[in-house]
Amino acid sequence: MEYQKDILCIGAGYVGGPTMVVIATKCPQYRVTVVDINKEKIHAWNSDHIPIYEPGLDELVKKVRDKNLFFSTEVEKGIHEADIIFVSVNTPTKTFGQGAGKAADLQYWEKTARQILANSDRGKIIVEKSTLPVRTASAMERILNGNPDGIHFEVVSNPEFLAEGSAVGDLENPDRVLIGSKETEEGRRARKEIVEIYANWVPKARIIESNVWSSELSKLTANAFLAQRISSINSISAICEKTEADVNEVAYAVGKDSRIGPRFLNASVGFGGSCFKKDILNLVYICQSYGLTEVADYWESVVKINEWQEKRFIQNMLSNMFNTIAGKRIALFGFAFKANTGDTRESPAIYITRGLLDERAEVVISDPQALINAEIDLEDVKDSLFFEIDPYKAASGAHAIAVLTEWDLYRNLDYQRIKEAMVQPAFIFDGRNILDHQKLFQMGYNVFAIGKAPLKHF
Ligand code: NAD
Ligand code: UDX
Repeated sequence: MEYQKDILCIGAGYVGGPTMVVIATKCPQYRVTVVDINKEKIHAWNSDHIPIYEPGLDELVKKVRDKNLFFSTEVEKGIHEADIIFVSVNTPTKTFGQGAGKAADLQYWEKTARQILANSDRGKIIVEKSTLPVRTASAMERILNGNPDGIHFEVVSNPEFLAEGSAVGDLENPDRVLIGSKETEEGRRARKEIVEIYANWVPKARIIESNVWSSELSKLTANAFLAQRISSINSISAICEKTEADVNEVAYAVGKDSRIGPRFLNASVGFGGSCFKKDILNLVYICQSYGLTEVADYWESVVKINEWQEKRFIQNMLSNMFNTIAGKRIALFGFAFKANTGDTRESPAIYITRGLLDERAEVVISDPQALINAEIDLEDVKDSLFFEIDPYKAASGAHAIAVLTEWDLYRNLDYQRIKEAMVQPAFIFDGRNILDHQKLFQMGYNVFAIGKAPLKHF
């Protein structure tokens, strides 16, 4: 079959995989190939157990795989054949050298650019799907267009705004799709090609076109604003705990202002995920490198409040459990950084577990999807931990439960039965405010929620 476009995506991760699955589903007229250097990952994408847990994704993969969607490790061949290449490789925080701990590590990115150059005998459109520092497109173009054969590449920015756990819905029905390019004739032509892809299912009014730098910076800014809302409400949660104000009531009242809006105001043990911290620190580093110290400090405080919130959670457990948790069994309900995903990257649960272990508690981790990742994250202390998928078994013999992920499953457990199997007095620390605190208190639990007055029997 003749395909209208040959699309390649380099990087079969949380973004590249689902994004290409949705493009292939919506555009049967295109051939979509996803390549990755990670053989196991590609093998998994080609199997019945795809490497990502994402509601609805399995079904879509089955519909299009080996029809117009292909997963492969043949990166060079893929580059050679493609007209349009989305680059969706990881851009983690740098851990070495200049900018360590803040700047984006662009080594995978640059390697990909050089690979594209080495395997292209004609011009192509290169789409930045990864989240990148503003002005990366210019470095990319310099690498690509410095070739002696005069092959011309056009770099377009098309950042991804999907959230994990709702990736399929976010991709099928996005608030907006952002496509930035150079404001030259060739740049606009390339941008139009990418607009055309999305226009197959996204209403035109939701496809935003901009210059390439605005597009790159908008992605960092969107994540910074979202995380800022969480740190803002979490900072208020600390005042609530001192004053008997209830953070849910405050968030509701504040969010009713249509200028503020209700979403992303759930106080929590802290935000996790692979993006927020990394992207804000990247923004901080960019500000610092332009000498914008005050701006850098402003955004860095969003991350600092988040770290403080996690620390506060552990301190709260310790002080309320009579200042010692050594030898006490503590069941963690949830390890994923949010519900509906098995992803644990930057999950507050990692920090909380380590903090509890430092206090010599006996920690039992329960999660319906994230236990394999939890074992990897805690490899160095694995032997001091217990992993138990069944929350009833996890809580049996425990002094305390800490809810760290807002899985629906935890809302509807038989807490009376759980309490009877716990050591008394039984404690619950609800790091996600998902439980019925009054009901638990009446059952005899001592209940500590985020941003609420404690409910205790002593
Ligand atoms: P990921 O780690 O899940 O996937 C990246 C993949 O790229 C890996 O499988 C890796 O093996 C592959 N890769 C690296 N170098 C390669 C190369 N030279 N050739 C072929 N494959 C290569 O990362 P992710 O979560 O999908 O994130 C990708 C980008 O998207 C990042 O910049 C991230 O910031 C951004 N982003 C992520 C999310 C999210 O929710 N995870 C959302 C929006 C944007
Ligand atoms: C985020 C952005 O939402 C998405 O647009 C971007 O593309 C990638 O980064 P993600 O990290 O998948 O997506 O999840 P998100 O739903 O944003 O949650 C991030 C963290 O914030 C989670 O730990 C979540 O539990 C926490 N959170 C979210 C809160 O603590 N309170 C809230 O009100 C919302």
